[in-house]
Amino acid sequence: MELADRICVVTGGASGIGRALSLRFAAEGARAVVVIDRDADGAVATAEAIGERGFANTADVTVEADIDAAIERTEAELGPIDLFASNAGILSRQGLDAPDETWDLVWRVNVLSHVFAARALVPRMVARGGGYLLNTASAAGLLSQPGDAAYSVTKHAAVALAEWLAITYGDQGIKVSCLCPMAVDTAMLAGGEADMSAGAKAAAVRGVLAPEVVADAVVEGLHDERFLILPHPEVAAYELRRASDHDRWLAGMRRLVTGEDGTPRAG
Ligand SMILES: NC(=O)c1ccc[n+]([C@@H]2O[C@H](COP(=O)([O-])OP(=O)(O)OC[C@H]3O[C@@H](n4cnc5c(N)ncnc54)[C@H](O)[C@@H]3O)[C@@H](O)[C@H]2O)c1
Repeated sequence: MELADRICVVTGGASGIGRALSLRFAAEGARAVVVIDRDADGAVATAEAIGERGFANTADVTVEADIDAAIERTEAELGPIDLFASNAGILSRQGLDAPDETWDLVWRVNVLSHVFAARALVPRMVARGGGYLLNTASAAGLLSQPGDAAYSVTKHAAVALAEWLAITYGDQGIKVSCLCPMAVDTAMLAGGEADMSAGAKAAAVRGVLAPEVVADAVVEGLHDERFLILPHPEVAAYELRRASDHDRWLAGMRRLVTGEDGTPRAG
């Protein structure tokens, strides 16, 4: 898929990876980029940085009616959405003792928001012959996130949902890519680092990418229409290691948590 003349929507576009994707899609010649975020000022700031092809929409992605309304408004005012980048996500920064409310919120942001977008868009896209869903998961969705149980679980679910969408609707013109970076230099990483062991933090800093580099990888992945977009290519090798010898991989992850391993953490 080429982005020139496309109508694109990006959730979580006020900050970090979503902001970088929004700006990059515009730079690639998108006809319109709709920036969705619950942070109204941040969404407007990204849209203003894009200029006349940028549009801001305040929405909470955990509320299905908000996503429906944003999609309806975009299609009524701008035209059919070609690419929906469902990117907003949050950490819990906790283990087993995270309260149920935290598990529910992380589930809603990291998984149900993708369901809501697909539920609204897939029938429309199938009816008009196709469309593209780009779902941001994480390397934690292929591996794990030391220190954050809800993030690990929901990002695995996000990968599973993206796979399911590709399997179920791939023959009806729905293209799906799943973005799985490790550490990226955003507000989320700055918040998450406070909870890491010294070893994991040092490893994360070594592997950290700028959001603009992630946007480069996304444009390339969309061009190739590749399912897995891995801005840190080493994630493919880690995934293979996990699949080929789970016990060995778990032992390595335990060493990472205790800070004895230099492998970059999954983010
Ligand atoms: N930063 C990393 O190291 C990293 C690594 C792998 C994956 N990711 C994933 O990338 C995505 C973007 O993360 P980021 O690092 O840019 O974080 P970020 O915190 O900089 O940006 C996230 C954006 O999502 C918005 N958001 C959060 N909850 C929302 C809600 N309920 N409704 C609407 N908007 C909401 C926030 O306001 C913010 O603008 C997330 O899905 C994250 O899990 C990040």
